[in-house]
Amino acid sequence: MDFKTDEDFGISSAAMTPVWILACAVLVLRGSACAARDVRRPNFVLLMVDDMGIGDLGCYGNKTLKTPNIDRLAEEGVRLTQHIASAPLCTPSRAGFLTGRYPIRSGMVSQSKVGVYIISAASGGLPNQELTFARLAKDQGYSTALIGKWHLGLNCDRHDDLCHHPSAHGFEHFYGISMTNLRDCQPGHGSVFQHVHTHVPYGSLALGALALAFLHARGVVCVPRRLALGMLGLVVMAAALFGVFRWTFRDLNCFLMRGAEVVEQPFVSENLTRRMTAEALQFLERNSERPFLLFLSFLQVHTALFASSQFQGRSSHGLYGDAVMEVDWSVGEVLRALDRLRLAEQTLVYLTSDQGPHLEEISVRGEVHHGYSGIYRAGKSTNWEGGIRVPGLLRWPGGFPGGRDISDPTSNMDLFPTVVKLAGASIPQDREIDGRDLLPLLRGESERSEHEFLFHYCNAYLNAVRWSPRNSSAVWKVFFFSPIFHPENSSACFHTHACFCTPGYVTYHAPPLLFDLSRDPSESRPLTPDTEPAFRAVLEAVAAATERHSRGVVPVPDQLSPGNMLWKPWLQPCCSSWTRLCRCARDHQQGELTLSH
Ligand SMILES: *[C@@H]1O[C@H](CO)[C@@H](O)[C@H](O)[C@H]1NC(C)=O
Ligand SMILES: *[C@@H]1O[C@H](CO)[C@@H](O)[C@H](O)[C@H]1NC(C)=O
Repeated sequence: MDFKTDEDFGISSAAMTPVWILACAVLVLRGSACAARDVRRPNFVLLMVDDMGIGDLGCYGNKTLKTPNIDRLAEEGVRLTQHIASAPLCTPSRAGFLTGRYPIRSGMVSQSKVGVYIISAASGGLPNQELTFARLAKDQGYSTALIGKWHLGLNCDRHDDLCHHPSAHGFEHFYGISMTNLRDCQPGHGSVFQHVHTHVPYGSLALGALALAFLHARGVVCVPRRLALGMLGLVVMAAALFGVFRWTFRDLNCFLMRGAEVVEQPFVSENLTRRMTAEALQFLERNSERPFLLFLSFLQVHTALFASSQFQGRSSHGLYGDAVMEVDWSVGEVLRALDRLRLAEQTLVYLTSDQGPHLEEISVRGEVHHGYSGIYRAGKSTNWEGGIRVPGLLRWPGGFPGGRDISDPTSNMDLFPTVVKLAGASIPQDREIDGRDLLPLLRGESERSEHEFLFHYCNAYLNAVRWSPRNSSAVWKVFFFSPIFHPENSSACFHTHACFCTPGYVTYHAPPLLFDLSRDPSESRPLTPDTEPAFRAVLEAVAAATERHSRGVVPVPDQLSPGNMLWKPWLQPCCSSWTRLCRCARDHQQGELTLSH
């Protein structure tokens, strides 16, 4: 539908015509089809599921959870079997995906424990100097939309400056949440703070205060009256402030935006997957005559889990399975819309998950609220394969043949150069881009991925390095530290609800741990100099590559510093006046959607 004009190349049509005829003649002589395909810029539909495990999908081996629509994408497209998220947590992984750069380069990694935003009125976010593929595609005339989750910041200085909003990063149309979906967003589903409480030594504090009062009464110590009253006042104030914060947390953080406006606060979860899907279909219909880029970023299958009534109880894996099935249905609706609008041929569809399953997500009633990593070790918040090996499906019937697997390492950062080039823009030269164009691999023009090394960060800390030497089938993975699981024999950090990357929560390894994923994809047996003759040589090569990489990482402002993550009331988006407590009823513009089955 959209052909690149000669003007786009800065060459006049008259000069171009003979060149094209010649080029086509050469292609015909070489036996290739001389289709207009090579000059046609595809549309993009990028689908990202939240916290979904690679082992949840039929096309990655699941036999009991039904995902026929995603499986169809795999059959008609290319299945990446070593597709790696740029980080094992939402905020940094999405920053890497959109910018094609390791998130440490944009400052979207935390130096402390918590590695994602959990408060909408925080001042950190994806800096404006970062370029997303959406911004570059928009400059090439693409109509761009983000529908669903953002999680890369919102405001800087005022409650409405929108400095980090999707519209500041190239998404013309936005319908969704600036934050992430949280347990607190759905009454009765618990709270992200239930784990904070387990860290506060309330008991010890109360005992200490009692003991002090007792000793004071006995005359053993003398606490001045004013000091005692002052302390009590402080405690009461802190408790009151925290109470207000907790009581309003859902209202203040679980809201839906349409463009710059908050349209539903707090949002009602149940039908959100349907509503996002309806919005996506409307966007496709509105833009069927022009190039578009749609990033459909599912709120599911992150807790609090939800599924609309049509999907409740449908799967044999509880609410988690129901939510996956509804996401799969939504993918089917999008694929069917592309068929109906005759856009399938010239649309590149991509599906992935932002990272592995969040294995600590067990509901208060003991239900499993997380996905499955298949044969891979551990999950979200770790750089074991279960945390970063994600589904990667790509389909573009007009661009490359489907029905194939690519097992070489690829990254979610690769979408950046791939999309940018196909959209007709050029790759920015003023910065390091870590993603690599996927097209040579997808078209079968190249056998090996350009990612000889991939660096796996745990927040701001380099955790592991993957090395696929050009001349061998080995996939070495070297760990400088690994998370301390709790309980010890599990593969998760139940005591902190996510694994942390800082001292006290990890074991440092000297020499580093070494695995060969080609022989041991489950990372079950670290190699030793006795079991692996190449042990020292591999560690040396990885150390040299790490040194080169680290030298190229320029320090930038920390977007997840405590000051950038805290609640700043003056940044709080609120759809009503404060006196009405920031509550607004349903978004009235929402689309209606009839379920096709
Ligand atoms: C399929 O996915 C579900 C949900 O994550 C999981 O419980 C189950 O073990 C998986 N089954 C297989 C055969 O992989
Ligand atoms: C969800 O959609 C169904 C069907 O349209 C409707 O009956 C139900 O009331 C909606 N639920 C909520 C919470 O709005």
